[in-house]
Amino acid sequence: MTEVRTVGVVGLGAMGAGIAQLCVEAGLETIGREVTAELGETAKGRIAHFLARKVEKGQLDGQERNAAVERLRLTTELSDLAGCDVVIEAIVEELGAKLELFGELDWIVAPDAMLATNTSALSVTEIAAATTRPERVVGMHFFNPAPLMPLVEIVRAELTADEPFERAYALGERLGKTPIRCHDTPGFVVNRVLIPLLNDCIRVLDEARVSPEDLDAALKHGAGWPMGPCTLVDLVGIDVHVHASEALYEKLREPRMAPPPRLVRMLQAGKLGRKTGEGFYRYD
Ligand SMILES: NC(=O)c1ccc[n+]([C@@H]2O[C@H](COP(=O)([O-])OP(=O)(O)OC[C@H]3O[C@@H](n4cnc5c(N)ncnc54)[C@H](O)[C@@H]3O)[C@@H](O)[C@H]2O)c1
Repeated sequence: MTEVRTVGVVGLGAMGAGIAQLCVEAGLETIGREVTAELGETAKGRIAHFLARKVEKGQLDGQERNAAVERLRLTTELSDLAGCDVVIEAIVEELGAKLELFGELDWIVAPDAMLATNTSALSVTEIAAATTRPERVVGMHFFNPAPLMPLVEIVRAELTADEPFERAYALGERLGKTPIRCHDTPGFVVNRVLIPLLNDCIRVLDEARVSPEDLDAALKHGAGWPMGPCTLVDLVGIDVHVHASEALYEKLREPRMAPPPRLVRMLQAGKLGRKTGEGFYRYD
């Protein structure tokens, strides 16, 4: 298997910046592509800040931190990714934008390069079909925040070949993650299980007329959850959870996947959880 030396990360938003941070910390030369130089610089500033905090906490040596930050090169030109062994895409969750990007990458990177998408809810197989080499496309589904969440789902699309699939798995390990192998089905593994489960929890709020505090206590102390469902949905963001529920419902047509009306009302009222200061709980 080809050793990965240079990684391209396309899109340096919440997920892409976290993935780029993992890459530079793992000693990989990394090229980050954003749509404007300013967005790239902002992301690099955030990465430098997080790594400085690790130095303060004694988790990283100052020199290592500087070397890691220097390993990230920024560009707005996709053609600068030509020499990458792997490109990980983390742009907006819109099929059209991803198809266009993969179509362009197909002409830019070497024939044996591996292309990965961090999509949460789109079909990796459909994205791969935008290229002339669908066998070299995989899903690498990181969790938010990528530097802290240990799991990465390595997703085999319909036509993915063994070598790029295992290259993605090995890269996940090299980035210090716990990778798992799965196939390209809606929600992959965690979201397929967690989204309907959380939706059930929210419906129980109304059915059993239980308070958010008591529901959280029930799942923590009766089922060993590390945090209650209302706390978790507030943390994830009501908007992100409703969007993921709608995407799964659209594909699977199972009523449990549909967002509960209570969450839709919260979304409409702008109560998005921690990020807006109010969801099931208030955050001051
Ligand atoms: N946020 C999460 O919890 C989460 C978790 C797992 C996976 N994901 C997936 O990761 C992807 C990114 O999500 P996010 O939350 O980081 O979004 P985000 O909006 O924070 O970041 C997306 C970034 O991509 C940039 N961008 C858009 N088009 C681009 C292009 N053609 N080239 C380069 N950059 C481009 C935007 O400027 C933006 O900075 C999505 O597919 C999402 O479904 C998100």
